[in-house]
Amino acid sequence: MSLAPDRIMELGWAFVPHRALLAAVNLGLFSALDQGPATVDELAAACAASPRGIRALANALTALGLLQKTAETYQNTPETALFLVRDRPAYLGGMLEHTAALADRFRDLAAIVRSGEAPEAVDQPEHGEAFFQELVPAIFGMSYPQGTAAAVALGAGDSLRGARVLDVAAGSGAFSLPFLQRDPTATAVAVDLPHVLEVTREFATRFGCADRYQYLAGSIRELDFGVAEFDVAVLGHICHSEGALWTQRLLAKVVRALKPGGTLVIGEMVPDDQRREAVFPLLFALNMLVHTSDGDCFTLREYQEWLTAAGCSAIRTVANPGPSPLILATR
Ligand SMILES: C[S@@+](CC[C@H](N)C(=O)[O-])C[C@H]1O[C@@H](n2cnc3c(N)ncnc32)[C@H](O)[C@@H]1O
Repeated sequence: MSLAPDRIMELGWAFVPHRALLAAVNLGLFSALDQGPATVDELAAACAASPRGIRALANALTALGLLQKTAETYQNTPETALFLVRDRPAYLGGMLEHTAALADRFRDLAAIVRSGEAPEAVDQPEHGEAFFQELVPAIFGMSYPQGTAAAVALGAGDSLRGARVLDVAAGSGAFSLPFLQRDPTATAVAVDLPHVLEVTREFATRFGCADRYQYLAGSIRELDFGVAEFDVAVLGHICHSEGALWTQRLLAKVVRALKPGGTLVIGEMVPDDQRREAVFPLLFALNMLVHTSDGDCFTLREYQEWLTAAGCSAIRTVANPGPSPLILATR
């Protein structure tokens, strides 16, 4: 087998596709192309940029498969039209912009690997609250389709009516909003840090569901969620920052809050059991090293073990538009 340096070169230059994508989002290039195919000059005018800059950027994006080029015009691909045009429900531009801040924190990754300690761990509210206030609107476009997949899988508004939903670490409410939208008789309790709940309120109002939310402010490590009160409980992208110990405590508490027969939904980045193949979840686990005291991405086998210990059965997965399948379990 002959070895070529291509992959290492490509990884060494991986900051360029990242920055090209961010620049295109920042310039509104994909949104401009939502009006239809455009030439370099037309795009330059629409993005208030130089033709020279737009030519280089649009050609690089074309080579990356993020634009299609025909003769001298560029257009969105189905993927960029869906995820990178502003105001689309699955818009990921906000999340991409947030990755610029994340990238800064990776600057001295070797030092963090040496010490094993995140400099300003976001699982500590004094660092986390402001961070999460910015993060949760940015990840709405990733989380909301996952919440929708959960609501569909559980038959919200159909076989499941009048559900009481517990949204733990609710953020924007992306996981509970689809239940309330599909069923006008469903209600939810959103739990989060006080200032992040301001964001939850904004989204609940924007989606016309504000009157059906109750809010529980405080730390999920300390709050009690009651006993047998909820039909559905959701843990959207919280276990990874909590780490193994706090996740197991959280699962026990959340399962206790479910009515018998109620369903727990977990939205997460789930690597393969051997932790050697699932690229995005394993990169995200590195992100948890950089950002948290004890965070990690847990495998399906680990969740199965913990959920069983917490009193769940019928542990299953549901395909969804996110990075990993949703995990569902019945109390
Ligand atoms: C990655 S966001 C996920 C938000 C939302 N569930 C989603 O999937 O889009 C993590 C959420 O957990 C909340 N959170 C983190 N630590 C918390 C704690 N100790 N107590 C309450 N909420 C916490 C953050 O404020 C944030 O809203």
